Amino acid sequence: MNPGKRITELRAIINDHNYKYYVLDQPVISDGEYDILFRELESLERSNPVFFNDSSPTQRIGVEPITAFDNIEHSIPMLSLANAMDNNELTSFHERSTKILETDSILYAAEPKLDGLGVELVYSNGKLTHGSTRGDGFKGEDVTHNLRTIRSIPLRLREKEIPVPLVLEVRGEVFISKKDFSDLNKKQENEDRPLFANPRNAAAGSLRQLDPSITARRPLSIYLYEAGIVEGKTFKTHIAFLEALRMWGLPVNPLIKIVKDDSGIINYHNELEESRNEIPYEIDGTVFKVNDYDQRNRLGARSRSPRWAIAGKFKAQRATTIVKDIEIQIGRTGALTPVAKLDPVFVSGVTVSNATLHNQDEIDRKDIRIGDTVLIERAGDVIPKVVKVIIEKRPKNSSQFKLPRKCPVCKHGVYQLDGEAISRCGNTSCIKQVKARIEHFCSKGAMDIDGLGEKVVDQLVDEGLLDSISSIFSLKKEQLISLDRFGERSSEKLMGSIERSKDTSFSKFVYGLGIRNVGEHLSRLLERNYNCSINRFRTESIDELEKIEGVGPIVAREIFEFWSNQSNCDMVEDCFSRGVTIQKQNDTWSDKLEGKIFVFTGTLQKLNRKNAQEKVQILGGRHSSSISKNTDFVVAGTGAGTKLKKAKQLDIQVMSEDEFLDLINNG
Ligand code: IVH
Repeated sequence: MNPGKRITELRAIINDHNYKYYVLDQPVISDGEYDILFRELESLERSNPVFFNDSSPTQRIGVEPITAFDNIEHSIPMLSLANAMDNNELTSFHERSTKILETDSILYAAEPKLDGLGVELVYSNGKLTHGSTRGDGFKGEDVTHNLRTIRSIPLRLREKEIPVPLVLEVRGEVFISKKDFSDLNKKQENEDRPLFANPRNAAAGSLRQLDPSITARRPLSIYLYEAGIVEGKTFKTHIAFLEALRMWGLPVNPLIKIVKDDSGIINYHNELEESRNEIPYEIDGTVFKVNDYDQRNRLGARSRSPRWAIAGKFKAQRATTIVKDIEIQIGRTGALTPVAKLDPVFVSGVTVSNATLHNQDEIDRKDIRIGDTVLIERAGDVIPKVVKVIIEKRPKNSSQFKLPRKCPVCKHGVYQLDGEAISRCGNTSCIKQVKARIEHFCSKGAMDIDGLGEKVVDQLVDEGLLDSISSIFSLKKEQLISLDRFGERSSEKLMGSIERSKDTSFSKFVYGLGIRNVGEHLSRLLERNYNCSINRFRTESIDELEKIEGVGPIVAREIFEFWSNQSNCDMVEDCFSRGVTIQKQNDTWSDKLEGKIFVFTGTLQKLNRKNAQEKVQILGGRHSSSISKNTDFVVAGTGAGTKLKKAKQLDIQVMSEDEFLDLINNG
């Protein structure tokens, strides 16, 4: 096929998959298959630059970071919403509207109020030309370069079902889901970077980057919910407008529905408030909008908010309680984190008894003291935090809180690097650091030693059975049996998990070492770079380290310093002499099964299921426990039943264990 034709075709196919994934929420291909198409397009575009088009799905990140934000004036101001604090105020809103419209019944579009960042997108002739933040409502910042990186925002509107309008200004909210936020913060933590306070701050910070390649790495989502100017198409109702948005390929919140009168409003509001914790993103209330545009026009607007809409506020997820104590926790890098121990208090479905105070700067800024009554806030998944001190309730003789100058555990001096807010214990043998390092080494993304969690590690270190990572591999069953909470079976089980963990990969082992700034992702890059050789990795120079993609000067130095410390080298050596083996399969990093989804069913004879699943992962595939139309292969062991039947119904390729072994070894 001629390259121009194929490029056009691939762009259409990829855009269509984006639509199915982001708008319909019904992907029909796996991530791996998507990547293959994407790479084909990238490669064709590279070798045929005449077909360059900045709306191509490959053109999300611009060439250069910008130097400053321009302002963009909104052609229609982006108004705010008036608030209803309780059900009575929601009823008054409905009554007011019925009175002005001289009717006794009104239909409303009921929507979740997303706790993100308001933005406006502008499409001219179907092409995304501008994007801006809400700003002060009249003008916002031009963040086109960053909005383009959000994969769910189409760079071109779909025109399969309805023609695109001449101009479409559409408003919506950029946000980060709870799961993506917690993953993002985990990543930040693993890389020893500062944590984001909540999803909204993370979303706002991500959108206000000068360099779009940073924004592109942040898990931003968007739902569109209002019109600015629309030229070339008119709508009678809001719901019809939202339907058109979906057809144009723009994501619209599936929880939006039509409700009738104040009873409908209140039911929706109460239901959403009750299910608030199950919704995968943060919402801070509901929004009710008169559905009929004619009625909207008749209701009009006040200076800052329309009369045709109202925001229903959820009850505050805040509470007051007393700081009984401030404890200092020591992390694996020696960081001292002050944690407020609170009088337990119930906030939005959970009892809160701790709140992080981050560091001394934060304590100083809010002047938090032991004995203070504080207002605390819990936003979804976010660690509870102290909003402010209720000064009037402060006990007379309280004093300012200062972090200790000596580690509260080992009494070693505490240091603070220039420009860092974090204080650290300088003693790498501090028992808390040792425990935290062992715990990290055993954690899921690292060696994944089932049964060696926080409590057991604490116990074994306190009993003198563990004192370093490598000591795990000298544990003996006889030492465990006599301990509290251990018996014959549990000791055997733990010994079994330790034994199984010994066959490991470079990336899991290196991530487990807990080198500062070396997270799971970077460990994988290093694995690829050093082709699984720890020896090559540990003897590398700073200059060479810096040449690796993804390794900057700071990380290079951290790695170099880690290996310059003889006790680290000895510890790693001890792991190897006690049986840890880095699996050096030739197939590591092969992408033979890239994106393929496997389901295992029945009993396998030669491999255990976990090993088989790991093999799939090593080769770039994924495994799933249930069969769907996205499944690529079903591996059937003996006794396979219903899943096998389903696979046949769906016409999915079924293979035996031997065929699977053949595929991964020779295929
Ligand atoms: S409609 C005039 N719908 O809430 C109508 N806004 O206080 C204005 N928001 O700045 C917007 N979810 O950022 C609308 N479903 C939703 C919303 C929503 C969140 C935000 C938006 C706006 C603020 C209004």
